[in-house]
Amino acid sequence: MAMKRAAASVIRNVCGSRVVAPSPISRPLHASPGSTKIVGVFYKANEYASLNPNFLGCVERGLGIGEWLQSQGHQYIVTDDKEGPNCELEKHIPDLHVLITTPFHPAYVTAERIKKAKNLKLLLTAGIGSDHIDLQAAAAAGLTVAEVTGSNVVSVAEDELMRILILVRNFLPGYHQVINGDWNVAAIAYRAYDLEGKTVGTVGAGRIGKLLLQRLKPFNCNLLYHDRLKMSPEMEAQTGAKFEEDLDAMLPKCDIIVINTPLTEKTRGMFNKERIAKLKKGVLIVNNARGAIMDTQAVVDACSSGQIGGYGGDVWYPQPAPKDHPWRYMPNQAMTPHISGTTIDAQLRYAAGVKDMLERYFKGQDFPEDYYIVKDGKIASQYL
Ligand SMILES: NC(=O)c1ccc[n+]([C@@H]2O[C@H](COP(=O)([O-])OP(=O)(O)OC[C@H]3O[C@@H](n4cnc5c(N)ncnc54)[C@H](O)[C@@H]3O)[C@@H](O)[C@H]2O)c1
Repeated sequence: MAMKRAAASVIRNVCGSRVVAPSPISRPLHASPGSTKIVGVFYKANEYASLNPNFLGCVERGLGIGEWLQSQGHQYIVTDDKEGPNCELEKHIPDLHVLITTPFHPAYVTAERIKKAKNLKLLLTAGIGSDHIDLQAAAAAGLTVAEVTGSNVVSVAEDELMRILILVRNFLPGYHQVINGDWNVAAIAYRAYDLEGKTVGTVGAGRIGKLLLQRLKPFNCNLLYHDRLKMSPEMEAQTGAKFEEDLDAMLPKCDIIVINTPLTEKTRGMFNKERIAKLKKGVLIVNNARGAIMDTQAVVDACSSGQIGGYGGDVWYPQPAPKDHPWRYMPNQAMTPHISGTTIDAQLRYAAGVKDMLERYFKGQDFPEDYYIVKDGKIASQYL
């Protein structure tokens, strides 16, 4: 049978910047003539949907592309119901052609779902970060995975700067005092510091990491970065950040650590008990990258013991975070739901990016090269 699936295991042969899956079944990168069935999975906005016409990233607006798709004769189904065997998404898996999902309310596209999705050709991430998809299974099945690269990097970098300041200044206990009718300066001041002069290290200095370093520059910190790739001399000069080739040499120098890598098999659980134990006591950590880069319980224990002085971020595993997720209840945290990359400005950018990719797909045109996460059986290098 011509459409026999390729073996699930992917040979880790680096070919150019991508990894090659053995004999991928190539599903055409453009739409076949006729109606395309597109499913979008987004968070529900309920009463907030009508409060802003540009609130595009929710179920109610579906990225603002519903009328356009229908006018072209395509079927567009939008839902937030993504978990379990009887969910709405599961009903459409066998015959959908395109799945759009966001990291904020991720539809987990497992190897099992890919196996069931006989018509699936294209997986689009409205935002950045496609770790909710089993990329190896997608590559082996010949699927195309693409995200709107760059769409919300400013949004995330600004949020990281905010969380750094919230933690350094011990802002949240003061805010809670105000709400609770209290007034106790000492309870906040004994562990509130200036950002100036502190050593800040980013793990990952890609698009978001660089924007954060640029934003930190005027605060007169000592800036360090670790990445697989060294930045250009111009960017190093502009930010004043020093390259640290060895992650474990950089981390103990840092007063503040910010995580800016994708979630990959190399970064999953990167901050485990042993690594956290080697950090400066009272270190502050900001993680807007992905929750699973941390060992969940190790973070809870270190926040409780004071080894971590404060942990802030907007990413969890799984998402939505269950009511009993221990990060909700640990001390000295500045956590929110996954919001940093879904500002209204970011939504306008990633909605436009998704529409552009669909237009190109219908016309049989390629996407911008750096949008591809999986193409022709190969996985993009930042996910290796
Ligand atoms: N919270 C949010 O709303 C939100 C929004 C956008 C992106 N993100 C997350 O941030 C991540 C980074 O986004 P970006 O646009 O900066 O991506 P990017 O691809 O521009 O940068 C990622 C950087 O990480 C580096 N890297 C990858 N693996 C590494 C490893 N094992 N060790 C050291 N460095 C490694 C890469 O070399 C690259 O420079 C995304 O993958 C996503 O998970 C979160």
